[in-house]
Amino acid sequence: MKYIIANWKAYIVSKKDALLLLDKTNKAAKKSSSEVIVCPPYTFLADAKKMKNIRIGAQNVFYADKGAYTGEVTLPMLKELDIEYVILGHSERRGYFSETDEVINEKVKAALKAGLKVILCVGEKERKEKNVIPEIVAEQVRADLKGVPKSKLTDLLVAYEPIWAIGTGASDTPENAYQAALYIRKTIGDIYQNVKAGKSVKFLYGGSVNSQNVMDFVGYIGIDGVLVGGASVKYGEFEEMIRLVG
Ligand code: PGA
Repeated sequence: MKYIIANWKAYIVSKKDALLLLDKTNKAAKKSSSEVIVCPPYTFLADAKKMKNIRIGAQNVFYADKGAYTGEVTLPMLKELDIEYVILGHSERRGYFSETDEVINEKVKAALKAGLKVILCVGEKERKEKNVIPEIVAEQVRADLKGVPKSKLTDLLVAYEPIWAIGTGASDTPENAYQAALYIRKTIGDIYQNVKAGKSVKFLYGGSVNSQNVMDFVGYIGIDGVLVGGASVKYGEFEEMIRLVG
């Protein structure tokens, strides 16, 4: 079973558009045996939860449960809405909102402890050698997973999203994505000194995935799915991807 995850980012801003897209995605997901997950902005989470055939994720969460944190959304709030997944460490959070690996690590630990499944995003800004996944990716994985109990790894999905491939139309090659899967799984195996630990994590590729290239990525056994931004909010396009992956 593959994972097809929509990251709506802040592309959809009206309830009318959100409901239309949710309905289309929900209908496509009904005929699919993949795990279709939609991560809309917070304001559409409650509407999204009404859809029967898709799982729902938030795009971020704060690590403290409650308190004087103006503007934050916390884990008990997501739990009350019965949200299953949360995206953490997205490069747009790291870049525009200055989230460090320390902060991301706090969020990952808190979200897993609260029983959510975490979609952890990692990826380099640039690549010096074309087909070599840079060491920074392993550094991010090590820092973001610090103190995460091995028993929680089954609730972890790591999305490799090279920043240069996000929203650019220039996806990484499926071969490189597969190499990244091996590299990240080895890194996790090393952290826990247990090869099986690396294998228990789901691996996703993200960065300019669309209906033209999705099958090239999910065709690899080691690639469990895709995290899709721009193409997930285009009417027809995301449905087509769900149809293709099956
Ligand atoms: P993209 O974004 O599909 O628009 O490249 C992917 C992401 O940022 O998760």
